[in-house]
Amino acid sequence: MIISVVSAKGGVGKTTFVSNLSVLLANKFQQRVLVVDANITTPTLSFHFGLVPEANLLDVLEEKTLLHNALYSYHNVDILPASMVRDQPYPDLSLLRFKIENLRNNYDFIFIDGAAGIGREAIEAIKASDRVIVVTNPEITALMSSMKVVRIAKLLNVPILGIVLNKTRRDDELKKQDVERTLGLPVIATIPYDKNVNKAINAMQPLVLYKQDSPASLAFALLASKFVGREIKLPFKYKIYKALGYF
Ligand SMILES: Nc1ncnc2c1ncn2[C@@H]1O[C@H](COP(=O)(O)OP(=O)(O)OP(=O)(O)O)[C@@H](O)[C@H]1O
Ligand SMILES: [Mg+2]
Repeated sequence: MIISVVSAKGGVGKTTFVSNLSVLLANKFQQRVLVVDANITTPTLSFHFGLVPEANLLDVLEEKTLLHNALYSYHNVDILPASMVRDQPYPDLSLLRFKIENLRNNYDFIFIDGAAGIGREAIEAIKASDRVIVVTNPEITALMSSMKVVRIAKLLNVPILGIVLNKTRRDDELKKQDVERTLGLPVIATIPYDKNVNKAINAMQPLVLYKQDSPASLAFALLASKFVGREIKLPFKYKIYKALGYF
């Protein structure tokens, strides 16, 4: 299944979500996973993995290189990165679907890390996918932007798997139920605000490897288990975090 991960507002946690979920699916649940950095203008996915790519998605789309030359394997996840150094203000992603389609049968999950907004870049990511996940934060501005991207996905006829509510805190005014009611979609995961997320990115390692038992890691583990329909035994810490109102 090809899943695009999008948001109209930037910085809500799309890349964090894609990198952590994919590492868990590959390593805890033995799934074959590919992640595609379709955020050509401001890519960061490689950074989350500690990868410094040479060949990249743009080279593939411009047919300067074959797709397999731009595939990297880190932590058992295949990565099709974007270039962190080459600037391309108006990237043409119209071939994205065609290129990824050829890889469909090699993987259980293909995640497309989308660019923020509802411009061409984001739209091509949605069009290249079978399902959409919208990442948002418990803030009114993020929620308003999410309404836009939900409408666009519906317009493009790509079903939405659900909402990921990221960076939640105990004293949020906007609760999961408010988000579900406003967007008319289920929240499939609530990921707490966790200062280790930023530490992991600075260490160029996905959080679920950097600190397995931190609150956000456990929330990602729970979602990954739902994705494959397998139960996991969460550590005692999970109960403590839950009692403290993290989830
Ligand atoms: N659960 C979380 N707790 C704390 N900080 C987080 C969490 N998720 C993401 N962040 C922080 O938010 C910032 C943005 O995260 P990320 O790059 O994943 O967002 P994005 O939606 O992919 O951004 P962009 O729109 O630029 O692609 C990062 O600095 C990251 O450390
Ligand atoms: Mg991103």
